[in-house]
Amino acid sequence: MRTQIVIVGSGPSGLLLGQLLAKAGIDTIILEQKSKDYVLGRIRAGVLEQGTVALLEEAGAAERLHREGLVHEGTEIAFDGMRHRIDFKALTGKTVTVYVQTEVTRDLMEARAAIGASTWYEALSVSLHDVDGRRPRVRFGANGETHEIECDYIAGCDGFHGVSRRTLPEDRISAYERVYPFGWLGVLVDKPPISDELIYVNHERGFALCSMRSKSRSRYYLQCRSDEHIEDWPDDKFWEELTRRLDPETARNLQPGASIEKSIAPLLSFVAEPMRFGNLFLAGDSAHIVPPTGAKGLNLAASDVGYLSAALIDRYKRGSTAGLEAYADRALARVWKAVRFSWWMTQMLHRFPEASGFDRKVRAAELKYLLGSKAAQTSLAENYVGLPY
Ligand code: FAD
Ligand code: DHB
Repeated sequence: MRTQIVIVGSGPSGLLLGQLLAKAGIDTIILEQKSKDYVLGRIRAGVLEQGTVALLEEAGAAERLHREGLVHEGTEIAFDGMRHRIDFKALTGKTVTVYVQTEVTRDLMEARAAIGASTWYEALSVSLHDVDGRRPRVRFGANGETHEIECDYIAGCDGFHGVSRRTLPEDRISAYERVYPFGWLGVLVDKPPISDELIYVNHERGFALCSMRSKSRSRYYLQCRSDEHIEDWPDDKFWEELTRRLDPETARNLQPGASIEKSIAPLLSFVAEPMRFGNLFLAGDSAHIVPPTGAKGLNLAASDVGYLSAALIDRYKRGSTAGLEAYADRALARVWKAVRFSWWMTQMLHRFPEASGFDRKVRAAELKYLLGSKAAQTSLAENYVGLPY
């Protein structure tokens, strides 16, 4: 087979890239190791920046998002038994949209199916060849046979555990990492949200987050130890612990219910540099991971794809490779700012087991400063709604 771009991975970054390129008449083949249902069953992020929404509009996959997504003009931070609102709209003129990653993925898959572009699900043993040479190729197994695709470029959109980043020679890659000493225990429940906006909770027992998926479905998270198991968290224990971390007035609005999904996610900051090697370009989680506190993972995947699609379109429509040469630096500049923001939100809002009395006092002072300063709130708001591309 032959195509212009092979995209490895049909998560949000691979699918969005495929759509933006298809709109410009550029051919792609997507290779995904899992089944379509498996990809659609993964419960993940929920908050979209305006820039992400704009790219989904450009991709022709934002109609349902505009119908069903919930536009949020602010968020709340709970600290010392009080809730404080950060007004994104007033501080930055911008908003965010609550629309779950699963639905973004579904909309993009439908848009791709509608144009008849090629996707191989359950592609086995995907391997990348001659990525820095003249004949880049991708090999994979399907239906009991081995297939090979020749292409101009390869987009590694295959997430943190994918094959693309691992294709780079070890001596050409620098990895930067911070592992946090806790995880997030998440519960999804078919009950109305506790509040109209998200509530990020700093509490001495640990962080909590009250989020939502729709007007009738809520998502809650509790900071937990990294070594805990979901079997140790029956629903009753989860609701009891969440109630303890909420102020009494908020806790009164909590509608507990039977969980429809429960999982524990580790927290990690990770960046691999460079994001380009020869004709291979990494985008999204294949190159970087952030802790979920700033709601940036999916949005960074989208901004990478924004830069990469523009660069590839320039290459094919105008014959200029300048965008491709600049891709890694442009993407990484924005990535590192989001890494910083996610790290900062994480350290400010969580309880660190090793923290000294001094550390805890400084953290409390930081929160008090934030909640009393318009300048500090503006800084949080402009990062949360998304820095410019
Ligand atoms: P992915 O979504 O990981 O997609 C990569 C795709 O590549 C997958 O479909 C995978 O099956 C496929 N693949 C992998 N290896 C291969 C291979 N060898 N061959 C072919 N295909 C392959 N972000 C937030 O902002 N908020 C959150 O609350 C949040 N929660 C998260 C919870 C979890 C458990 C995880 C893992 C992530 C979470 N994230 C969250 C991050 C966010 O979901 C990711 O940033 C986003 O999914 C990145 O999209 P992606 O397309 O780059 O990667
Ligand atoms: C959600 C996850 C986040 O990491 C976040 O900061 C906000 C919302 C969510 O899953 O709803």
